[in-house]
Amino acid sequence: ANGRPQISASFRDVAIDGAPSEDGAPEQGGSTVSITVVGASGDLAKKKIFPALFALYYEDCLPEHFTVFGYARSKMSDEELRNMISLTLTCRIDQRENCSDKMEQFLKRCFYQSGQYNSEEGFSELDRKLKEKETIVVEHTNLYEQMQNGYDCEAHANTFHQAGKVQNRLFYLSIPPNIFVDVVRSASRTASSQDGWTRFIVEKPFGRDSESSGELTRNLKKYLAEEQIFRIDHYLGKELVENLSVLRFSNLVFEPLWSRNYIRNVQLIFSEDFGTEGRGGYFDNYGIIRDIMQNHLLQILALFAMETPVSLDAEDIRNEKVKVLRSMRQLRLEDVVVGQYKGHSKGGKTYPAYVDDPTVPSGSITPTFAAAALFIDNARWDGVPFLMKAGKALHTRRAEIRVQFRRVPGNLYGRRSRSVRGGGTTATELEKATNELVLRVQPDEAIYLKINSKVPGLGMRLDSSDLNLLYSERYPAEIPDAYERLLLDAIEGERRLFIRSDELDAAWAIFTPVLADLEANKVAPELYPYGSRGPVGAHYLAANHNVRWG
Ligand code: NDP
Ligand code: BG6
Repeated sequence: ANGRPQISASFRDVAIDGAPSEDGAPEQGGSTVSITVVGASGDLAKKKIFPALFALYYEDCLPEHFTVFGYARSKMSDEELRNMISLTLTCRIDQRENCSDKMEQFLKRCFYQSGQYNSEEGFSELDRKLKEKETIVVEHTNLYEQMQNGYDCEAHANTFHQAGKVQNRLFYLSIPPNIFVDVVRSASRTASSQDGWTRFIVEKPFGRDSESSGELTRNLKKYLAEEQIFRIDHYLGKELVENLSVLRFSNLVFEPLWSRNYIRNVQLIFSEDFGTEGRGGYFDNYGIIRDIMQNHLLQILALFAMETPVSLDAEDIRNEKVKVLRSMRQLRLEDVVVGQYKGHSKGGKTYPAYVDDPTVPSGSITPTFAAAALFIDNARWDGVPFLMKAGKALHTRRAEIRVQFRRVPGNLYGRRSRSVRGGGTTATELEKATNELVLRVQPDEAIYLKINSKVPGLGMRLDSSDLNLLYSERYPAEIPDAYERLLLDAIEGERRLFIRSDELDAAWAIFTPVLADLEANKVAPELYPYGSRGPVGAHYLAANHNVRWG
């Protein structure tokens, strides 16, 4: 797993080379993998985790011998779990061959165990069932092998030994954060693999600030080694975010421009055209800065701004991310604008205010929108504003990285000239039309570069147009969901896209002081109508740094 890939090698090729992982025995050969979704009755499990597991199974990406378990307090039979998850399973590309057969086969490998989250008995019972299935998988293998090869004592013994040798277990904690430690304590004590690896995927939020995050890490580490903890940030599994480093480090044209010398500002934009409906209870405890900025947007920023890693190895990449995060200035209150959506009627339809949600306390001042200006105090980025904007209930759904370049010095085409028919393009027009690189993470994934070019004709007018890589045109195959990539990585022991504890500490260090100030000063959010472009304060903030939002 530590080999340095060639340019053509995928991380997948590198990850499954069969080398022992740091936390266990061989990755795949002769092993079983049991995946337990803790909190299986919940929203994320149904919406994302089970469908992602099925997609991996459909694509033959899961190891041969795997089982899936759901664990939660709700009472359910295996059959009821299968019925529940079958409602959200889809074939990624409609009408694909054998989809319903594959679904049936997948569902047969899904089982359920009900239990409390802090109960060692519950997880012991799960352990018993896991062992049962792990053995059944082995027996099936033997029967299958026998049918294929004819009976051969030696081969039989080898197969049994091989398939039964390593039993790997992955727990996905899809539960509220206040019970992460209970589950880890009980599950690690009673349901860890005896001879293979045991890994825990932990969902966000990882704490509310530096202190609580540190405490969570310390508590998890009472029961687990760092190598066993896979802190997930699903934005790191998105295709365009994966492509960010490829774009930068494998094209000669970008890396030389990637600094304060050529880049004026960088914008990281997240917006959703729906509110917090259904998740108000969770959201009110966290707010948009913790929900989106401190993790998803900051992770993208770190990948964008880090120095070239020594290799594509997970630790080399994470080392660079930590370095750049630690070079960032703590965010100050004057560099933040917060907002909250209010009710709004449009076209005969009424949209609720954030505080109309019955699970949100009345009078809540939790921000559902924030804009912030961040700075990296290192030689590469000194003085370049990194502007973040994240909001719920805005006019559109999008996630983008926008890189605005400096203007061309002494631009020939910005001068009015008698020798240019039609007078040319004005300096003001050109000032606006600087180059801009946009990575549209979602929807309609695309990378485009705004350039100036000549409008065809006898005159000499310039026009801003795009060099456009639209994924749906260039790569018609459907893009895998982020959870598919991340689950597969966790199974394969590839940690590159998961957050290391020192990265997390560095990320919280940037945001914790401002979060404390916002709360201590009870800063009232600027109200903006549901479905609007958000508070005008965001424009003033950008203007203070000579930036216009893209
Ligand atoms: P849910 O609120 O749906 O909770 C998951 C399960 O946990 C529930 O089905 C319930 O199962 C159990 N549970 C819920 N509340 C409690 C409680 N107070 N005490 C004990 N058990 C409880 O969560 P989600 O599925 O929405 O999210 C799971 C995790 O993933 C959370 O950490 C969340 O922050 C994170 N996340 C969620 C996203 C989403 O889109 N939903 C997106 C990104 C991250 P039972 O009662 O059967 O035991
Ligand atoms: C989650 C946030 O992490 O990401 C949600 O908690 C948000 O509030 C979601 O809606 C957005 O994810 P995606 O993949 O739909 O953009």
